[in-house]
Amino acid sequence: MWVSLNLAWVGFGEGKFAKWRGWFVKISPDGKMEPFAGGLRSPAGYSFNDEGDLFYGENQGDWVGSGRVTHLAKGDFAGNPGGLKWAKEPNSPLKLSLEEIQDNGSPMFEAAKKNPKIKLPAVWFPHAIMGISTSDILQDTTKGKFSPFPGQYFVADQGQSKVMRMGLEKVNGVYQGFAINYREGFQSGILRERFGLDGSMFVGMTSRGWGSTGKDEFGLQRLFWNGNMPFEIDMIKAKSDGFEFSFTQPVDVNSVKKAASYAIRSYIYKYQHQYGSPIIELKDLKIKGVEVSADHKKVRISIDGIRQYFIHEFTLKGVLNEKGEPLLHETAYYTLNEIPAGPALVAAAPQDEIKTTVSARVVKNSLGYELGITGLLKKHTCSACHAKDSKLIGPAFTEIAKRNYSNQKILELVYKPNPQNWPDFATEMAPMSHVPKADVLKIAGWINSLRETEGLKNRD
Ligand code: HEC
Repeated sequence: MWVSLNLAWVGFGEGKFAKWRGWFVKISPDGKMEPFAGGLRSPAGYSFNDEGDLFYGENQGDWVGSGRVTHLAKGDFAGNPGGLKWAKEPNSPLKLSLEEIQDNGSPMFEAAKKNPKIKLPAVWFPHAIMGISTSDILQDTTKGKFSPFPGQYFVADQGQSKVMRMGLEKVNGVYQGFAINYREGFQSGILRERFGLDGSMFVGMTSRGWGSTGKDEFGLQRLFWNGNMPFEIDMIKAKSDGFEFSFTQPVDVNSVKKAASYAIRSYIYKYQHQYGSPIIELKDLKIKGVEVSADHKKVRISIDGIRQYFIHEFTLKGVLNEKGEPLLHETAYYTLNEIPAGPALVAAAPQDEIKTTVSARVVKNSLGYELGITGLLKKHTCSACHAKDSKLIGPAFTEIAKRNYSNQKILELVYKPNPQNWPDFATEMAPMSHVPKADVLKIAGWINSLRETEGLKNRD
């Protein structure tokens, strides 16, 4: 039996009072307990893949800049030193002390370079953008019954009541890969995923103790595939100078050859004793070359300035299939722990002058222009925590409107929230300075318009 043990809340003893808090332990049938790996904060689900490797889902907090999935081998240290007191025990597979860990707000990979016992995550799930509380992990072993992505992983999120997809590859012996949305809108916060005999997935849920987008206190729902093949990113693989995307359907070649079809940037988080982290070292990236496979189902891109260890975010906003349809989910996040060796791409630069065969209307929508407010709130994940009239994880927008902030002030608060303004809310809003200013101001104008309509209503 395998057991993952959470830490107590920061300031309430973390891992100090009970043995092996913050550790993964293995218990044999005759009752012998063997510590396996340390450095856990709030593990909320784990699983073994078909190669027998162990992965667990971690939640943002002290020493954890963002949610993530980490591969654990015996003696690994996953990053949170709260339980390191027990590393001194004679049967600990890990010898490490707090003093050996740097706490200066530089990224985790910098700390790991100095201390290789620190295990970097296989995949980061950017906080608030891609989930807010990573929980269970389940590899699709249903041989095509559950999803069109056999062998990939389905990672649940408690706070955002959704199931995300994770594709992994091993580069230089290290696990890494991407995360992308899969299915949202469950009734409560998902903590457990299991396959039924028919290859459907049962999800077990609760929102007791920690709020979730799904409003029910608990629930059990079944997720199954209707068999239709969506137009999706199937897999992303790292290349020596960029990435290779494979798709579930052939792409429209003109659309993938245009630089304007992609928005790419990379960033990372701080590694520090403080709770969470803003996005740091954000850099926009440009495509140098594009190559399409003969069957039009693979697209390799070379990029100026890929960075080892960073999260590479791709928004394939203009990529269309042969019918001119956009992707079901256009944004994916790849964690580049290792850059593989291999020849550079020799391909033409993107050709933005090429006329597309697609009608202007479709391109406009798929490029995300002129998104309505609902679209903006969804795109920037605000709607995961806020609704217009009702309290979710954050206050209703109509309540925020009553504070009489200027649009500029709202912008400042979105970039740098001030949780003291809302003492009744258990969760703090993470700084969202990655959302473009123009979009936040548009949302701010809309929030303030709710106040005016409220006023009018009151006068009636
Ligand atoms: C992970 C949940 C979450 C997400 C995502 C989120 N918020 Fe919030 N938001 C909160 C919570 C909780 C509060 C109240 C506590 C606080 O300010 O930390 C809040 C407060 C606010 C406030 C009031 C600030 C103040 O100090 O009065 C504004 C404005 C706001 N959010 C706008 C947004 C916008 C716009 C987005 C999307 C770009 C967004 N939020 C995304 C959870 C979230």
